Amino acid sequence: HQPQKIAAMEANWNTGAHVPLVLFALPDEAAKENRIELAIPDGASVILRHSTSGVVPGLNDYPGNHPPVFPVFWGFRVMVGTGILMLIVSWSAAFFLKRRRSLPKPLALIMVPMALSGWLATLAGWYTTEIGRQPWLVTGILKTADAVGPVAGSHVALTLAVYLILYVLLLIAYLGVLVHLALKAAKEGDTSPLPGVMNAAMSQPAAGE
Ligand code: HEM
Repeated sequence: HQPQKIAAMEANWNTGAHVPLVLFALPDEAAKENRIELAIPDGASVILRHSTSGVVPGLNDYPGNHPPVFPVFWGFRVMVGTGILMLIVSWSAAFFLKRRRSLPKPLALIMVPMALSGWLATLAGWYTTEIGRQPWLVTGILKTADAVGPVAGSHVALTLAVYLILYVLLLIAYLGVLVHLALKAAKEGDTSPLPGVMNAAMSQPAAGE
């Protein structure tokens, strides 16, 4: 139960009923308000309390005890926005492949950066969860600052550096395999929308035919 986190995710400053669902905003932590706001009236009360008069907790109930609002608010929106984009792109692609058996070029081009969408949404979701629970490690019981271990900063830096090197090597290997597969498909003249998968599936007679 992390009321500060949901208040930060929704950029809701004041506890009360009839709380709007803030779609987009520029939360201003110093002024304790949203500078620009696009919101659906009563939306947060309905979603979180199932009633337009439902009372939703606000950040001002937790002075000095809530997470930084901007990264949590926007981390959540990047995650949800990417998820919605994934649905739109994949469902449109499925539609075109079924009806026309090919992808329109703009959609095929959009799919290239969408290769990173899972990574982006996962990172944004993780930021939402981890930054959102600050300053608590266990909400109401143990603060992050009180749980810092005796491990030296240099040890942490060394471990981080080893992880980074390992992941850079894995990234290089991953990109190498992708380029290798793409060049192989191009050389063999395979121009199917999903090489080797969709064409094979579409040209196979159904079982029993
Ligand atoms: C499409 C609409 C989506 C909604 C409504 C949604 C909602 C949520 C919510 C409510 C949380 C928990 C936040 C918290 O209380 O700590 C969360 C966490 C998370 N989400 Fe999403 N999400 C969506 C899409 C995605 C997508 C597409 C991905 C990844 C491909 C993703 C990855 C994550 C991850 C990794 C976490 C953190 C989990 C953890 O560390 O416990 N989400 N999401």
